[in-house]
Amino acid sequence: MSKKPMFLTKPLSQLLTESKETGGLKRSLTALNLTTLGIGAIIGAGIFVLSGQAAAQYAGPGIVISFVISGLACGFAGLCYAEFASMIPIAGSAYTYAYSTLGEFFAWIIGWDLILEYLFAASTVSVGWSGYVVSLLKDMNIVMPPQLTNATGTVMVNMPDVGWKPLTTVAESLSASGIDFHTLQHVTCILNVPAMFIVVLLSALLVIGIKESANFNNIMVITKVSVIILFVAIGFMFVKSANWHPFIPANKVESSRIAEYGSIWGWLKAYGAEFGKYGVSGILRGAGVIFFAYIGFDAVSTAAQESKNPQRDMPIGILGSLGVSTILYILVAIVLTGIVSYKSLNVADPVAVGVDAMGKGMFWLRPIVKVAAIAGLSSVILVMLLGQPRIFFTMSKDGLLPSVFSRVHPKFKTPYLSTIITGTVAMIIAGVLPIRILGELVSIGTLLAFIIVCISVLVLRKTRPDIERPFRTPWVPAVPILGAVFCFIQMAALPVDTWLRLVIWMVVGFFIYFFYSAKHSKVRAENGK
Ligand code: ALA
Repeated sequence: MSKKPMFLTKPLSQLLTESKETGGLKRSLTALNLTTLGIGAIIGAGIFVLSGQAAAQYAGPGIVISFVISGLACGFAGLCYAEFASMIPIAGSAYTYAYSTLGEFFAWIIGWDLILEYLFAASTVSVGWSGYVVSLLKDMNIVMPPQLTNATGTVMVNMPDVGWKPLTTVAESLSASGIDFHTLQHVTCILNVPAMFIVVLLSALLVIGIKESANFNNIMVITKVSVIILFVAIGFMFVKSANWHPFIPANKVESSRIAEYGSIWGWLKAYGAEFGKYGVSGILRGAGVIFFAYIGFDAVSTAAQESKNPQRDMPIGILGSLGVSTILYILVAIVLTGIVSYKSLNVADPVAVGVDAMGKGMFWLRPIVKVAAIAGLSSVILVMLLGQPRIFFTMSKDGLLPSVFSRVHPKFKTPYLSTIITGTVAMIIAGVLPIRILGELVSIGTLLAFIIVCISVLVLRKTRPDIERPFRTPWVPAVPILGAVFCFIQMAALPVDTWLRLVIWMVVGFFIYFFYSAKHSKVRAENGK
């Protein structure tokens, strides 16, 4: 072998043998379970929280187009995931695909990066869950102590007639009315206790069993999907087509003439400042924000070793869940922007605002929508907390992480220690960090993983065209290339501070790789390195 040790690949023959074993995990999931697992992971904070803000601030009713664009990008990546997941059905997901194609170092990068997707997404969505629960409790006249409802250090202000709100969300309206927040009752948050609570609860469920967790997930998925369909069906009757005009609100600079700015440079400079505020650029920025809503279909691939017939069912689970979610998202976006002006949607619970706009006769739907959102967010957290330990499990089997991560519970047959470690870290992060920072980290981490998977499909088609591929990505190389390009464009649109956090995270990962993983790698040992 002339390859440098860090670029050694894991032999495919070995992976295929490993994928037939379960390492002690239980094979109990059907195609339907996998599809609901995917829907469970996908539909959550993206549609219930972010969709309204993206419509109000960036795209207007054109958010419908943003959903189509982002769904298309995820569709390309999903087709690549489906090829790998049916070919190498192993819990490590993208980490393993990279190990077999690009080598150990890239596998480590992606494994470490996936923590940003799964573990951090669990924390992010827990923060959204906390917001909905606190609001539902308030509707029932139960007020949680505000110090315990948000990230450490968040200042909460008691707004007259509205109740406790984070200062950042009300600062603008306070200053517009000339009110200094110090004159209102305010507190500084210590921890986000409801967010921590839900992580602990769902981690405990995951320790008890995959089947129990899948059953719980099924109930949550049925609840959220039924309520979304109900909302769409009823909502269509309340659509006022005037709300869709203009469908794409004009961006000031896009709709102007270059002559008004003196030169093309003047025009471009002005466009830079207005980029993303409606118009075509607003639709693109909306697509970047809405990408979060699609994250999760890839989590299906981490349940490969618990699937009864992974070769056939993995592509069904991945593409089926992505397809169903895309259709629901587009319908919700059409209805929501049709029943209420996009300008009123800059809130944390846009779907509830949509229900309010249907009039007093429809108020009964409001608590139902909130319960559905809570159910929806719970299942996202559950599947993310399910995916992460399974990636750790595989990395540990390869020697890149300590063996505690692959210990399976003798009775429950779950990677229990890995689940407990994941849950503990996710709980702490959910308790102390704000949702924006978390959400952007999740998006950048996931986009990087998608790019590596798309490239890996291309590499493996060249290096090992002979392997049996139960599912083949169509139109190769166009689909993987488009997937990688679309994802890179969305990554590039994220703020610089998010890129910096990604770099710091990766540097920490390199240290662990060179000081621990490289020394314990089984692939290296097998190759005498
Ligand atoms: N797609 C998931 C959500 O929107 C992460 O909550």
